[in-house]
Amino acid sequence: MAHATDTKSGTRRDFLLLATGAAGAVAAGSIVVPLISQLAPDQQTIAAGAPVDVDLAPIAEGQAIKIFWRGKPIFVRHRTKKEIDEALAVDVATLRDPQTDQQRTKAGHEPILVVFGNCTHLGCIPLGTAPGEPKGDFDGWFCPCHGSHYDSSGRIRKGPAPLNLPVPPYAFTSDTKIKIG
Ligand code: FES
Repeated sequence: MAHATDTKSGTRRDFLLLATGAAGAVAAGSIVVPLISQLAPDQQTIAAGAPVDVDLAPIAEGQAIKIFWRGKPIFVRHRTKKEIDEALAVDVATLRDPQTDQQRTKAGHEPILVVFGNCTHLGCIPLGTAPGEPKGDFDGWFCPCHGSHYDSSGRIRKGPAPLNLPVPPYAFTSDTKIKIG
């Protein structure tokens, strides 16, 4: 009987030791997890679409660049005075997707236009950003997939696309820098 009791005690003791070990492992785990999560946010945030800073200084008047935010192309164009004047002169009531140029740019920073770079028809990336690419009939972008023309405000003017190139959320953080997202 004594042997059986010892065995029971031993079993209980073994269990307690195991349980303590498991608790220790959980405690160790709870230390490791915060360390990992302190290291991880950059990757997680990037995957979730962290804001992107864009330096506008290298983009000369008349030029545009393409960057990626949340895996999608974004066009940033430094418009010429002619392009701005053309965008302002449009009778908004005649537009398929009526929006003024002022609604699509930031006051005091009218030369800078920031739009998503996927055609609103079937998602192709329109031409008109890289030097020498055709800008379409309205000095903006041309989508050769099915012939959509966007103007110098990124508004749809001709072709099958139903909507303007959307403006992503962004803000000027200085005269020559924006933060997208
Ligand atoms: S995807 Fe641009 S016109 Fe069809």
